[in-house]
Amino acid sequence: MKQPSQGILSTARAQDRQEVLKLLTTAYWMELETVASYVANSINPDGIRAQEIKESLNEDIDEELGHAKKFGERIKTLYGTVPGSKDFPKEQSYLQPPADPTDVVAVIKGVIEAERGAIEHYNKVIEFCADTDPVTEDMVIAILRDEEGHRRLFEGFLREIEGPGGA
Ligand SMILES: [Fe+2]
Ligand SMILES: [Fe+2]
Repeated sequence: MKQPSQGILSTARAQDRQEVLKLLTTAYWMELETVASYVANSINPDGIRAQEIKESLNEDIDEELGHAKKFGERIKTLYGTVPGSKDFPKEQSYLQPPADPTDVVAVIKGVIEAERGAIEHYNKVIEFCADTDPVTEDMVIAILRDEEGHRRLFEGFLREIEGPGGA
């Protein structure tokens, strides 16, 4: 008779679990770096056009922090350890405060780039977890839905600012 499976928590699946933990840790850091970038860009920009962007980013901060917490919880469940701040990444060069604080296009493009990166990574996680860890897959699908929404929203902002001829 076939033994009931313990899935991703079983000893036999330790190797898959390590791989999932690696993917989750990357995701965790992406979310936290996004929180840092969005806090800065929800405060720094100047001008009338900046107000909508700042408000929108301000709302996103809680959502991105929520994502980071979800990734952290999943790391813990899979017998991993949520890393400390020494490993904090510096990947988002495209979301540094622009030289001109009224340059909202730079901020919008940076946000789109951050969301694009998250979408790419989460699709990778979903793909890997499809055969190995349906609970992580399920969680990341929900997060991916949020990131697709963020990206679409900021693509709309860019469209308005750059006009019909823009990207
Ligand atoms: Fe996120
Ligand atoms: Fe996002």
